[in-house]
Amino acid sequence: MDFLSGKHILVGVCGGIAAYKSAELVRLARAAGARVRVVMTASAAEFIGARTFQALSAEPVWRDWTDDRSGMDHIDLARWADRILVAPATADRLARLAQGRADDLLGAICLASQAPLMLAPSMNQAMWRNPATQDNLALLRRRGARICGPGEGEQACGDVGPGRMLEPGVLVQMLTDSFRNGALAGLKVVVTAGPTREALDPVRYLSNRSSGKMGYAAAVAAREAGAEVALVSGPVALPAPAGVALTRVETAQDMLEATLPLARACDIFIAAAAVADYRPATTAAQKLKRQAGGRTLALEPAADVLATVAAMPRPPFCVGFAAETDDNLQHHAHKKRLSKGIDMVAANRVGPGVGFDSDENTLLLVWEGGQTMLEQDTKTRLGVRLIECIADRFRARQTTTESHAEHTTENTR
Ligand code: CTP
Repeated sequence: MDFLSGKHILVGVCGGIAAYKSAELVRLARAAGARVRVVMTASAAEFIGARTFQALSAEPVWRDWTDDRSGMDHIDLARWADRILVAPATADRLARLAQGRADDLLGAICLASQAPLMLAPSMNQAMWRNPATQDNLALLRRRGARICGPGEGEQACGDVGPGRMLEPGVLVQMLTDSFRNGALAGLKVVVTAGPTREALDPVRYLSNRSSGKMGYAAAVAAREAGAEVALVSGPVALPAPAGVALTRVETAQDMLEATLPLARACDIFIAAAAVADYRPATTAAQKLKRQAGGRTLALEPAADVLATVAAMPRPPFCVGFAAETDDNLQHHAHKKRLSKGIDMVAANRVGPGVGFDSDENTLLLVWEGGQTMLEQDTKTRLGVRLIECIADRFRARQTTTESHAEHTTENTR
């Protein structure tokens, strides 16, 4: 099957020596059945002519704001694209994209588009290795951009190392693969992430150290696996992931109200949020004044989002997280799965330097009759492995439910 057939590919061409390879990229993508439109930056025009792309794409070529004929072309192109592939993506372009700048047409389109963004870096090896470039890449990756390459080898400047743009054929293959059905294609996934805040008074609240990184990574990985993803997030310092429907909330009660309608219509629910177990029994309307002696806070249970979803008449496949500070992870994980009545628990140790607030984690996944350990890795990669495992278990549960239904029907005949 031709996955690129009829797809809208917007190719952003920046000013690098590899720009000549983008002509072949456009030709191959069209040969694979895609519709291709090219947006060039001003400096790209110093390396290759717009007419080349016009002829190869059989579409107009956009270079700068004067080509934004309707004044809304940048929005129309942003909506038109199923994928945006920036090739070559220079160091400067990565920095601009990381900053979210919209001072040229390509920047504005990337900012306005919900389409997955693929970047094919091309630059000198020292520029590639520079921490500034690497930080920009890490930020773009966290926001959901896919970094394609670069390759290694001899460079135009005579250096040898990483920074060569991938060959056009490889990039077209990556485009094709990005449309292949993923492990969660056609499924709806809801993810909660981050901490909640429970107000004591207008300026103070009870909260925890959750950064939201694990939940956001799971949401991005689920989207990349082809799911339609809704993310309900407490207050975090993370950018909204592309292609994910984000609802921001503050309290456990807000999270429950935002999640329930989504969870009723979803297939998989991943509760990665560190929701408050307790909230102040009363919230003072005015700022609490300092008083002599101590102060005792009365707390009451907060809404349990996961337990409420798991108790619905036809619950989705539910995954809960367990954050433990002691070593007996396995015991706690199995106990929590049973007490919460859920399909899977992802348990991790938390404490100084591990779990919360950190970029890395380990996860022990447990389900009925099985478990697996996901060894220490970045939360981004753990998110991908977590989603792979959830997809496997989800299918296994479906198969069991279907064969049980068949068995019951036969017995009642
Ligand atoms: N959870 C929730 N709503 C709450 C509390 C927890 O949805 N009010 C979810 C979390 O998102 C997580 C799981 O339930 O998936 C954690 O369960 P919980 O019993 O709160 O465990 P911990 O707080 O990790 O540990 P403890 O058992 O020590 O309270």
